[in-house]
Amino acid sequence: MADANKLIIFDTTLRDGEQSPGASMTREEKIRIARQLERLKVDVIEAGFAASSPGDFEAIKAIAGTIKESIVCSLSRANDRDISRAAEALAPAARKRIHTFIATSPLHMEKKLRMTPEQVYEQARLAVRFARQFTDDVEFSPEDGSRSDIDFLCRVLEGVIDEGATTINFADTVGYGVPELYGNMLRTLRERIPNSDKAVWSVHCHNDLGMAVANSLAGVMIGGARQIECTINGLGERAGNTALEEIVMAVRTRKDFFNLNVGIDTAQIVPTSKLVSQITGFAVQPNKAVVGANAFAHASGIHQDGILKARDTYEIMRAEDVGWTANKIVLGKLSGRNAFKQRLEELGIQLDSEAEVNAAFARFKELADRKSEIFDEDIMALVSDEQHSHDQEFYNFVSLSQHSETGEKPAAKITFSAGGKELTCEGQGNGPVDAIVNAIESNAQSGAELLLFSVNAITTGTQSQGEVTMRLSKSGRIVNGVGSDLDIVVASAKAYLSALNKLQSKNEKLNPQL
Ligand code: KIV
Ligand code: ZN
Repeated sequence: MADANKLIIFDTTLRDGEQSPGASMTREEKIRIARQLERLKVDVIEAGFAASSPGDFEAIKAIAGTIKESIVCSLSRANDRDISRAAEALAPAARKRIHTFIATSPLHMEKKLRMTPEQVYEQARLAVRFARQFTDDVEFSPEDGSRSDIDFLCRVLEGVIDEGATTINFADTVGYGVPELYGNMLRTLRERIPNSDKAVWSVHCHNDLGMAVANSLAGVMIGGARQIECTINGLGERAGNTALEEIVMAVRTRKDFFNLNVGIDTAQIVPTSKLVSQITGFAVQPNKAVVGANAFAHASGIHQDGILKARDTYEIMRAEDVGWTANKIVLGKLSGRNAFKQRLEELGIQLDSEAEVNAAFARFKELADRKSEIFDEDIMALVSDEQHSHDQEFYNFVSLSQHSETGEKPAAKITFSAGGKELTCEGQGNGPVDAIVNAIESNAQSGAELLLFSVNAITTGTQSQGEVTMRLSKSGRIVNGVGSDLDIVVASAKAYLSALNKLQSKNEKLNPQL
């Protein structure tokens, strides 16, 4: 018997999350995140938008062939070509879903699609009918649903359920919803549509007014939705999407009120958050609920006193329940290959071949020579670095030297390979990072604009590796490069080269909503 209180967690980090400027991921990075999402036990993984690029198609196909427990889903616009591409990419999946959508608001239909409501109605029905030829699990989203005319929406949604849509996802595409109104509109849809009981109802909210989580929960409690679409760390275009970790912990912590069941392994929340942040270069703000570095830190004396007397005076969740562990030294200089390999397995990191394990182990040894305590975060960062150099990147860091002294202009010399050829360049700048970027640019001449430069410590203490994100923009394209090292100037050089590699790659992606 189906559980009426089961709340389906649909993760769209790899699709809607990836639509944030600069968050695009390689196939290997997507597979790594998908594996971690499966460890987290999400019900559905939206792996991408197959028709958007050959790269996305291949990533979805690889994820479909890897993931066994979660349903793997691809987005597709409401046309036969997109749907066929989605079906092809999903073919290896043990459990698959096609998610098709079309805009239904007057504004989007008239200005973006240039279609009449009648044409949209027809196309929505045809798309679902076509998608049902490939799978019984078909989701339909009315894009900009919350700004659509309720009568028209009822007609379209009744039509697509008739065609066999099994999930209806009420999208608040531009984050315009207000909890009570959004929840009530969903309830009205479910009450007025005669065949509404034939589908699972879902919510999909954006955070433009900071209400994505509140709107999603109102959609569940007032509207009767039983699926929430969300992303890790709330990653997503503009202000982002509903944050998975907030939804899951709200429903779990306040089970007295929500009375819903989620299948998530909450101890995997923080590791997943860290992985997504590290791969995309989107740092998590310290005061972010659940996954921010300060979320469980009690600084004030009164709170500390309370916590020491009884934890629940100021703590409504336990840090360890969401996967925060005291920074544990896991390996050191004397650890051998087997211990390293075992730790990779415990972290859910699967390297494709023994050669890759060997290369990662060599990097680990190099790091352990320079840093006596190796933490899980260090291992995750070095595996990311290793995967980058495996992707046959155009630019690869080799070494650098840098000089700065009070009263003198900083200077840097860097050796890196470009297209397999090793070269050395020199540069000066206002600071050491500026000098290194100028040195690289004296050869690369990318013409890119630096939009963001951020440095974060991977673990605690001054021994920590620094993780640098560099966001570059060129001809309307935005990419993030991430690099880590004990020396933050080296980390900056790696991040800059990684961003240049992304600009070089021809993996142009189509945004489904444009
Ligand atoms: O925000 C949105 O409308 C979407 C749809 C494609 C579901 O992401
Ligand atoms: Zn969206």
